[in-house]
Amino acid sequence: ERVKDLNGIDQIVLRNSQGASAKVSLHGGQVVSWRNDRGEELLFASTKAKGKAPKVIRGGIPICFPQFDSCGSLEQHSFARNKIWTVDESPPSLPAKDSSGKSFVDLLLKSSEEDLKCWPHSFELRLRVCLGADGNLTLISRVRNINAKPFSFSFAYHSYLSVSDISEVRVEGLETMDYLDNLCQKEQFTEQGDALTFEAEIERVYISSPSCVAVLDHERKRTFVLRKEGLPDVVVWNPWEKKSKSKSMADLVNDEYRHMVCVDGAVIEKPVTLKPGEEWTGRLEIIVVPSSFSSEG
Ligand code: BG6
Repeated sequence: ERVKDLNGIDQIVLRNSQGASAKVSLHGGQVVSWRNDRGEELLFASTKAKGKAPKVIRGGIPICFPQFDSCGSLEQHSFARNKIWTVDESPPSLPAKDSSGKSFVDLLLKSSEEDLKCWPHSFELRLRVCLGADGNLTLISRVRNINAKPFSFSFAYHSYLSVSDISEVRVEGLETMDYLDNLCQKEQFTEQGDALTFEAEIERVYISSPSCVAVLDHERKRTFVLRKEGLPDVVVWNPWEKKSKSKSMADLVNDEYRHMVCVDGAVIEKPVTLKPGEEWTGRLEIIVVPSSFSSEG
């Protein structure tokens, strides 16, 4: 089903037979909504950002490509999230687990003349967004080098998960991992043995983390389980109060920062290099389970 946002940009709505849904915008290839079979929104979206395209919506799952954050010469999180993508009518096939029994859409972004001026590498970026019969959300991105020379890039699914209150949240699976702390000039630290909890601004890139990370929300008794392939790193970000009230976060109002946490499947620390004709795939699956499923005490 195709609908239009307030700016006339197409959005594709996926539904499953249980009543779950996901909405993907052609603006940025961004998943802007994901609801379970009870109609509850699982992704955060700031109230102020709604309908403010072409500026990227603060929430959902923006795609950061070909640069994450401000680690290179491009604008923060670079250009893919600000482009209008097209629906890919004849995508190259994907394994059965990412097609059969699922509701999905394929989107495509090709490097434009404008992109080539700031990033001189011809690419095709494909995104399949799948909603499973069980309501799981899967994003599969494929980057192909259609350039005559190799190129390197970073990538992140900047997933804004909706949480009851950030102080009720715990992230499991990153214990003992090394991370780059962006608040300390990207200095490297090692996480201690405990699960991660939140009491201040956090902006970290966990390096070569396990393929499965759990985000537990005690109050909602809900756990997001992120399973990733081709995405060795995990970003954990929450701006906290002071930064959320800064100019650059003007689209986060009141205490909205408390109701979100970004936990991203990403490839940042060691960028991907593709030779001409080569393709990279990054797959992120998010499932939601009752909290009792995990190792919660
Ligand atoms: C995080 C970065 O991943 O994304 C932060 O580490 C940044 O530095 C945040 O502020 C949001 O970025 P933006 O461009 O969407 O405001």
